[in-house]
Amino acid sequence: MDQNPKVISFENVTKAYSLGDRQLAVLKDMTFSIKKGEFVSVMGPSGSGKSTLLQLMGCLDQPSSGKVFIDGVDVSTFNSEQLAEIRSNKIGFVFQAFNLLPNLTALQNVEIAMSINEVPKQERMEKAKRLLKLVDLSERETHVPSELSGGEKQRVAVARALANNPSFLLADEPTGNLDSKSGTDVMNLIHDLWKTKQTTIVMVTHEPVVAQYSQRAIHIRDGMIESEEKMRGAGFASSAGKKIDLKLK
Ligand SMILES: Nc1ncnc2c1ncn2[C@@H]1O[C@H](COP(=O)(O)OP(=O)(O)OP(=O)(O)O)[C@@H](O)[C@H]1O
Ligand SMILES: [Mg+2]
Repeated sequence: MDQNPKVISFENVTKAYSLGDRQLAVLKDMTFSIKKGEFVSVMGPSGSGKSTLLQLMGCLDQPSSGKVFIDGVDVSTFNSEQLAEIRSNKIGFVFQAFNLLPNLTALQNVEIAMSINEVPKQERMEKAKRLLKLVDLSERETHVPSELSGGEKQRVAVARALANNPSFLLADEPTGNLDSKSGTDVMNLIHDLWKTKQTTIVMVTHEPVVAQYSQRAIHIRDGMIESEEKMRGAGFASSAGKKIDLKLK
């Protein structure tokens, strides 16, 4: 068996939007793959198609032509129910704007992610607690998002993204709304997840220093892959000099 199977694979993928009678080509003939356990960043100018690319990887949208394979299965012809199922079973999302539910506590925000998959309530609560502990937020279980800092909100979002044991994690500018200290903490967390749990991660970022946490950067421009670059794949100490401890299970 292949030691490093492909988790995500694009074959000649294009994505175009209709604007009146015009077609706007956003992704053009993209072919690449992400292997199990890889940490890849996607970089490129604003409007180059990074979020669109992530949406296709995340089964939130479908290509105009070409094929998208998730764990070897061609999802480009899936209907919306099949896509929803694959999203909840296989994919964890982290967004720039956190996207937490404002009226739910940190614990409930993590727990609710599991309700789609019919996990019993007691089990959901226990797992949500474990996940909040993993992101060092046990003390904040009962806080609603408005009672959390930006960095804490993003750590709750990371815990939520892990709730259904996804095959891979997608993060669209996870540090985009954070100051540098919180951004470093969130990146150390994401990096430690990758190191300790061999989580497959694809992350969009504008910032070269953030991309250095990944192993490989895919640079895109005008909807095409311009180049690939090997990155450090290493974390940095946070400004407080404290690395987040992720040894808990
Ligand atoms: N639903 C849509 N309909 C029409 N055009 C769209 C739609 N979504 C995105 N676009 C266009 O597609 C292009 C790529 O958008 P995308 O959001 O993928 O860029 P991006 O690389 O993520 O940019 P940024 O760094 O600013 O987030 C942009 O020119 C955008 O205007
Ligand atoms: Mg974007």
